[in-house]
Amino acid sequence: MSPILNQITGPAYTRIYSFGAARGENAVPNDDLIGPIDSSDEWIRQRTGIVTRVRADKGTDAIDLAAIAGAEAIAKSGIPADQVDLVIVATISNPKQSPSVSAIVADRVGANPAAAYDVNAACAGYAYAITQADALIRSGAARYALVIGTEKLSDVVDPADRSISFLLGDGAGAALIGPSDTPGIAPAVWGSDGSKADAVGMNATLTEFRDGEVPWPTLRQEGQTVFRWAVWEMAKVAREALDKAGVEPGDIAAFIPHQANMRIIDEFAKQLKLPESTVIARDIETTGNTSAASIPLASHRLMAEHPELSGGLALQIGFGAGLVFAAQVVVLP
Ligand SMILES: CC(C)(COP(=O)(O)OP(=O)(O)OC[C@H]1O[C@@H](n2cnc3c(N)ncnc32)[C@H](O)[C@@H]1OP(=O)(O)O)[C@@H](O)C(=O)NCCC(=O)NCCS
Repeated sequence: MSPILNQITGPAYTRIYSFGAARGENAVPNDDLIGPIDSSDEWIRQRTGIVTRVRADKGTDAIDLAAIAGAEAIAKSGIPADQVDLVIVATISNPKQSPSVSAIVADRVGANPAAAYDVNAACAGYAYAITQADALIRSGAARYALVIGTEKLSDVVDPADRSISFLLGDGAGAALIGPSDTPGIAPAVWGSDGSKADAVGMNATLTEFRDGEVPWPTLRQEGQTVFRWAVWEMAKVAREALDKAGVEPGDIAAFIPHQANMRIIDEFAKQLKLPESTVIARDIETTGNTSAASIPLASHRLMAEHPELSGGLALQIGFGAGLVFAAQVVVLP
């Protein structure tokens, strides 16, 4: 007879212990970008709410940004770096297709030999990674997880593409997740719709670039398609996440949606009937859209500006290329 295998379970609950952040070194105002897209500062402010976005120096990559944000989250958590046994990095801007960003970052922050892997779920990547970290800790597969969203989108921007060039920024946000005595991460509503894969994403493959068939591939989108999908479908997903968590809009202290467009954020708030007292993350105004980094960056800033939110409930929702989406309610550290 074969021996009976060991199987384990972990703690019943998890929570976010801390956040970390790194923003591109340079504030880039609208006026610096409008020339090649025949736009104006006024148009970009009105249509997106963006005044400036952060972009990184040429010599800074998504790995550098991730390591800074990750180190801050670990330091603030009080958990020694060598006890972090899982590092999940959500990104679409790994400078190389392999090796992963996460293994290098795990080593740089002192978490070597943590399990480490990258998640490609674009602007939903951070919420996807939080869902995984929560599940893996509760399963017993890991105890302390470092979750990072990091992007250097300025490397994949066509300055002449008026569908997107003015939206994108560079940065990284991180969260340290671990066991909790009380529930701190509610079940996610997550999913995908690959039938709309063409709505947003890269405009060409690397092999087409290698063969001289296309210029350097860049991000592009059908702005109105993504806008309509976000406003109609994602508001439903956010509402479902509240239901799954067993809470009402009035219980939400902070709303931290993906920072895609201020008009989308305002529309969500209206449809969800969030009370006046809910603090809404509006980091897009000075950071731009940083894809996987946008929710943790906005969370980090919200906690710095509103320390009274500590211990309150936040509704977060990410959505983007895939198309993919994920939303959940979390307790703020
Ligand atoms: C990209 C986006 C800002 C464009 O805003 P919009 O209100 O949809 O703009 P439209 O495409 O309807 O264009 C409206 C007008 O502005 C013009 N326009 C479009 N882009 C412009 C630009 N960059 N600068 C100036 N004018 C522009 C259009 O030509 C059009 O002019 P017209 O009315 O004379 O025909 C918006 O669609 C958006 O934010 N989409 C979703 C982004 C998102 O969530 N992405 C998620 C993936 S990360």
